[in-house]
Amino acid sequence: MLAAQFSSFGRPDAVIELIEQPDPGEPGPGEVSVDAELFPINPADLLNLEGKYGATQPNLPMIPGAEGVGRIAKVGAGVSHVKPGDRVLLPGPGTWRARVKAPAKAVFALPEGIDPKQLAMLRVNPPTAWLMLHDYVAPKPGQWLVQNAANSGVGHCLIRLAREAGAKSVNVVRRAELAEPLRAAGADVVLTDGPDLDARVRAAIGGGALPLAIDAVGGSGTQRLARCVDDGGTVVNYGALSGEPCMLDVRETIFRDVSLRGFWLRRWFMQTPPEKIAALYRDLAPRLGDGRLTVEVEAVYPIRRIKEALAHAGRGGRSGKILVSFGAA
Ligand SMILES: NC(=O)c1ccc[n+]([C@@H]2O[C@H](COP(=O)([O-])OP(=O)(O)OC[C@H]3O[C@@H](n4cnc5c(N)ncnc54)[C@H](OP(=O)(O)O)[C@@H]3O)[C@@H](O)[C@H]2O)c1
Repeated sequence: MLAAQFSSFGRPDAVIELIEQPDPGEPGPGEVSVDAELFPINPADLLNLEGKYGATQPNLPMIPGAEGVGRIAKVGAGVSHVKPGDRVLLPGPGTWRARVKAPAKAVFALPEGIDPKQLAMLRVNPPTAWLMLHDYVAPKPGQWLVQNAANSGVGHCLIRLAREAGAKSVNVVRRAELAEPLRAAGADVVLTDGPDLDARVRAAIGGGALPLAIDAVGGSGTQRLARCVDDGGTVVNYGALSGEPCMLDVRETIFRDVSLRGFWLRRWFMQTPPEKIAALYRDLAPRLGDGRLTVEVEAVYPIRRIKEALAHAGRGGRSGKILVSFGAA
């Protein structure tokens, strides 16, 4: 059985290796085995391979991957809520392998009729956007939020979910050519990042309330978003795409009472009962089917070309996500 693993940290396409692993075998009581179909390559995967992800370093060798989609291959004794053939989210972490055996409680049947490429991206980005939108400053109709890296998978989800909640979004990007496609995706305002961002945001929203900023960039990008929020507003940081620590000036923290919070989906998984997690996915999944949360895919690579897939995922200026297929989808 094929799996992708790495044994040292470094450039993702250089350190990843394809290996043959023994089949995990028959599922025991209360277990299932799942055949992987597709997984996306996320920025967190690239950072993981570079040794730059998380508060501590993982033990190596490691099979990476936080998400993906597959079908139930076999179920063990006593498992009745899923059956062979059901499409499920891949139990993780370690999803970059052809077959996995896992406790049955880790999986639930996904609705049929939804593009598996979209389902492969359900586990991480849609709930991240949903929770950041609803768990810090609950959106009120007519209010604004501002986000950077708005062209990302999370960014696209946030644009749609904000609109669904009646809120309006200012979307900050680093390439002016993204304005049109993002407006077509539902963005109210699209601006390119720059030192005068706050003035341009204020001009764009008139006297509107802007209590929430969502930051994937870190570094000085955090400060530029913080200047945009109202006094007493909140900046939620969830990524460090710049590779720099978040900067926040005392003009914001002391004199304007702006707070900086952090969001990590894995912490939410650890703190949330499984039934509540499954309920959020059941709520979000139909939005992938009817287009409300679809995210563009730029390329799908077969697993044997994982190195090319990783190199492609690491390049900026993409029009969508990079997926890897085990050939079943
Ligand atoms: N904390 C959590 O639990 C959590 C969960 C999910 C995702 N994340 C984080 O969310 C971020 C987005 O993930 P994703 O999967 O949505 O990304 P993605 O779809 O792969 O897109 C990456 C985006 O990042 C932008 N970007 C890259 N480097 C940048 C920089 N230095 N400055 C500004 N923008 C930059 C790209 O802009 P261009 O289009 O211009 O290249 C692109 O829009 C990542 O940092 C990821 O680690 C965090």
